[in-house]
This record gives sequence, C-alpha cells and structure tokens, in this order.
Amino acid sequence: MLTDEEFRLFRNLIYDEAGIYLKEARKDFLEHRVAKRMGVKGLSSPYWYYKLITDTEKTELLLLLDLLTVNETSFFRNGPQMELFRKVILPDVMRMRSRDMQKRLRIWSAGCSTGEEPYSVAMLAHEAIRNAPSPFLPPDKGRAGGMSGGAEGSDWDVRIFASDLSLSVLETASKGEYAWDKVRATVDEHYLSRYFDTDGTCYRVRDEIRKMVVFDFHNLKNDNGLSNLDIIFCRNVMIYFDEEEQRRLIDKFCRSLNPGGYLLLGHAESLHGLGTGFEFVYDNKGTAYKKPEQGKKSGA
Ligand SMILES: C[S@@+](CC[C@H](N)C(=O)[O-])C[C@H]1O[C@@H](n2cnc3c(N)ncnc32)[C@H](O)[C@@H]1O
Repeated sequence: MLTDEEFRLFRNLIYDEAGIYLKEARKDFLEHRVAKRMGVKGLSSPYWYYKLITDTEKTELLLLLDLLTVNETSFFRNGPQMELFRKVILPDVMRMRSRDMQKRLRIWSAGCSTGEEPYSVAMLAHEAIRNAPSPFLPPDKGRAGGMSGGAEGSDWDVRIFASDLSLSVLETASKGEYAWDKVRATVDEHYLSRYFDTDGTCYRVRDEIRKMVVFDFHNLKNDNGLSNLDIIFCRNVMIYFDEEEQRRLIDKFCRSLNPGGYLLLGHAESLHGLGTGFEFVYDNKGTAYKKPEQGKKSGA
C-alpha cells in the first residue's frame, strides 16, 4: 500500500520526531498502522495522511507514534539487573548522598511504558530506605519501618520520574492497576503482600508506592530538563534508535546524572563502542554503567 517514496517520507518523519528508526523489514508494520489511522480519519491516500500529520494535526502524529511503539514490559524485568540495583546500586547511591548530607534520591525511568518498571524500582527503593538506619532514632527504632506512605516517615526523600512518548501507556501507568495473572507471574509473594491490593480480578499498586512515582509525557528526542539524577533506567528503548540517536541520548543522560550516578540499559543494549566515560558495573549477570565520581578517573 505504501510506495517506496511514501515509506521513506514516513520513516524520516518518525525518525526525526521520535528517534525510532524503522528498517525496510518493518514496512508492513508501518503500513498496517498508517492504514489504521487513515481509516479513523477517513482518508484513502497515505500521502494525504502524511500531509495531515505534518501540516495540520500534530496530535494525530502523536497517535500514530503511539501505535508504532513497542510497549512490552513487566514487573521486576531482568531479575539479575534488578538484584544489582537492590544490592549494589541503591546502597552505593545512598552512601554518596548521605556523605553529602543530602538524603534525596532522584531516579528516572525513561521509556517507562505501562509503569511496571518505575513501580518495581519504587518498591525496591522503599525497602532500602525502610531498612536504612536513621540517625534521628534510637537504635531499636533505627529502621524507619513506621512509614505510612511512600517515602514518608523516613528521612529520605525519594522521587521516581517516569516518562514515555505514548499517551496510552501513561494512562495505564498512572492508574496502577494490572491484570491478576500478569502480576502473579512476575511479582514474588513478599512484594505482592506488601505493595499490592487485589479484589481477585486485578492487582492495584498501593498508594505509598504510587506517591513516589511521577508520570509525564516526554519524547527522548528532546531535552528533558532533569538534572542531578542519581539513577536512570532506560531499558529496551535504545534498541529502536540508530547509533547517532543513541549517542545523543547517552550524552543527555550523562549530563542529567550526578557524578557517581548510574545508567541501566536493557539486556540487548550496551554502551560498548560508543566511547562514553561510564564505568561498566557487573554482578551475577546484572549490568549497569556508572558515571565516574568527581575526582576519580573515568573507566571506559
Ligand atoms: C519496550 S518498552 C520498555 C519498557 C520498560 N523500560 C522495560 O524495559 O520494561 C519501550 C518504551 O519506550 C517508549 N519509547 C519509544 N520511543 C520513545 C521516545 N522517543 N521517547 C520516549 N519514549 C519512547 C515506548 O513508548 C515504550 O513504552
């Protein structure tokens, strides 16, 4: 249905707008999505549809992009990496912030899809701050276990920014409700009983976790305005970008991170060959990248 010329027009537009590079092999996929939106708009020519989204209806472009994104995700995805986050990264970042007398953690889930990733991160961070000794409490109460909601009750201030290009996934994410079987398949009993409510048909993430996460629309092609971040998760997003766009994104992440901050990518993604100053961190199949701390020599 799309001529080669039309395919190129759409491909360039999608790359310019979202950084997503559609290979020739994905022509059918694109055709199908464009046809779907053309049907909704009552148009019969792909070229007229192209003119519509470039000249007059920017919101329609967002709806098309929404259909082109791959939103697969799950709670605690990539177990070894989540374990590295829990066991190594969180304690390290908390140590650095405590040393700076700044009990503040700022984490970004970039390309958060339907929210399972930022909520998993919030649960692990919540556990970490609950278990962190508080200098303001006597030793027997030194674990800030009396928290009633989010990071409240602890002297740690934790915020997780979660963003995506797709408005429909953000809608699901902010509801925090998930199909019963999907949650049962990925979340272990400990987190289920502590951080979810259920009515037997679905699971809902409890408010104390939801309060820690702020969802927002953000296109990774653009500058994010976020700075002084401790940790960035950008997993299974860069695989859809070409090398040039990946480099730009990593540069932006590097600028947004505090010295000593961490970047976590998907298992099929790496900084190898991109010539960044990040240090590779590895433990039991879990991987991450650390921005050098101030005064320390960079690794890679
Ligand atoms: C495969 S999901 C990954 C979700 C989660 N990070 C994980 O690993 O489970 C990729 C997400 O990246 C989002 N995405 C793709 N291109 C983007 C862009 N240019 N800006 C922001 N988000 C984007 C998609 O909408 C999708 O929700």
